[in-house]
Amino acid sequence: MLPTIHIALLVLTVFVALCDGQHPNIVFIVADDLGWNDLGFRNKHVISPNIDKLAGMGMILDQSYVQPVCTPSRTAFMTGVYPFKVGQQHLAMLPAQPSCAAMDKVILPQKLKENGYSTHMLGKWHLGFCKWECTPTYRGFDSFYGYYNGQVDYYNYTILNGTDFRDNKQPIRPKEYSTFEYAKRADEILRTHNKSQPLFLYYAFQSVHEPIEVPKSYEDKYSWIKNEGRRKYLGMVTALDDAIGNLTESLKQAGLFDNTLIIFTSDNGGWPQFFGNNYPLRGSKISVYEGGTRASAFVSGKGIKNPGTTYKGLMHAVDWMPTILSAAGVKQVSSTDGIDMWDSLQNNNPSKRTEFIYNLDDKTPELTGHAAIRMGDYKLIEGNPGLYHGWYPPPEDESILNTDQFNEIPLVPQLYNLKDDPNEHNNLFWKEREIYKKLNSRMEEYKKDMVPADYPGNDQKSAPSNYGGYWTPGWC
Ligand SMILES: *[C@@H]1O[C@H](CO)[C@@H](O)[C@H](O)[C@H]1NC(C)=O
Ligand SMILES: *[C@@H]1O[C@H](CO)[C@@H](O)[C@H](O)[C@H]1NC(C)=O
Ligand SMILES: *[C@@H]1O[C@H](CO)[C@@H](O)[C@H](O)[C@H]1NC(C)=O
Ligand SMILES: *[C@@H]1O[C@H](CO)[C@@H](O)[C@H](O)[C@H]1NC(C)=O
Repeated sequence: MLPTIHIALLVLTVFVALCDGQHPNIVFIVADDLGWNDLGFRNKHVISPNIDKLAGMGMILDQSYVQPVCTPSRTAFMTGVYPFKVGQQHLAMLPAQPSCAAMDKVILPQKLKENGYSTHMLGKWHLGFCKWECTPTYRGFDSFYGYYNGQVDYYNYTILNGTDFRDNKQPIRPKEYSTFEYAKRADEILRTHNKSQPLFLYYAFQSVHEPIEVPKSYEDKYSWIKNEGRRKYLGMVTALDDAIGNLTESLKQAGLFDNTLIIFTSDNGGWPQFFGNNYPLRGSKISVYEGGTRASAFVSGKGIKNPGTTYKGLMHAVDWMPTILSAAGVKQVSSTDGIDMWDSLQNNNPSKRTEFIYNLDDKTPELTGHAAIRMGDYKLIEGNPGLYHGWYPPPEDESILNTDQFNEIPLVPQLYNLKDDPNEHNNLFWKEREIYKKLNSRMEEYKKDMVPADYPGNDQKSAPSNYGGYWTPGWC
């Protein structure tokens, strides 16, 4: 061959490589407090056609685990490191606590940005804001439209006595229901995106965390349900679904859809006290039972080759960072706890993960101090699994009787075979002594890497009254 043809071929190859999804767009959607039994593909009473459609075009993740509460899960998503190694294993961060998560770690958007991605974040941060260095636009996001804390009102954006909302660094108070606000901003980001760069959008919805608030038109879609809270909650799910329908439409309009990988996960299980539901799984948000930790999740779009299947392999929240970096064609960050699942997910291959830590929490045993590990089919829980120990039937289904709603802290460790007993009814602690010992000693190994929880007292300097009524960095 003539040299010019060589060069022409080389140029062509490079061009094809760049355009052929080597660096796909990635939308990482996190729903807040969404339960196992709260989407249409699992519960026929829930109206979520857009999510169901995306999940159906992709792969539902059957055993994708997260932490029992918000800040720990988000720490794991962003760092690929177990929260117990960076002090974020205990509950969620409170507004006046001077704490910032994993400041010595390179986080996901930083790595993507370094490698040419345009990086945007919508919604809930919850990884600390007491100084600017802790906030999204200082940690790898080109833009941020959302709030720093864990829980604001859906209409007036306040928590305790301060407003919590930012457009990048600018404090603002949006006018509409938060789900509408995010849907509009998502559309704007996608429409104005410069396609010479790949895009990463971390879409961390406020929905469906309490307070339970939704425009009436969504609640009315469930008028047949007697329980008012559940009616509103499912309305919130449907509003979320609408926003995801709009996201899909915006991606298509912007010509980005075909080269976009969409990941969807809840940050923890549903909270029955606030009408979320994980039935038939045991427990709730805050507990390390399956109901608190087995996420509603799916992957869809670019690279996923087995549409319409359910992925049975094990995954954990720490795996998302290496998996996303791999999908993005970006070099891994060393020394994380995550496993790159990209090949497994693309091709529906067996998971490389065989064990994980649900959580190790050293704090206040009477509240949530606990430790839990998974190895193969077995799970061991020591200490108090969390505040909710029972099974909570969905309020809309009156045929399921609620018999087992006890709230006693078990006196002995709990050992379950999740393959035979996914809903954690039969404690094998007395029966399977060898297996108990094996899981227990493995857990002790992990405990050597635990650092004390960073859970400081409130700092009065944080008071929004010092900052024109807004929760604002500058006090740590
Ligand atoms: C925001 O709404 C909540 C009710 O959801 C109310 O308690 C609170 O006072 C309101 N705050 C402001 C600043 O309007
Ligand atoms: C989705 O888009 C439609 C049409 O623009 C709009 O009416 C609706 O409010 C949007 N839904 C959400 C949740 O933003
Ligand atoms: C898009 O980005 C490329 C490369 O950075 C730049 O050359 C081009 O002008 C940009 N296009 C627009 C419309 O901003
Ligand atoms: C509310 O604001 C006052 C000052 O105006 C402050 O002293 C107090 O700690 C704040 N309360 C909460 C719960 O943040």
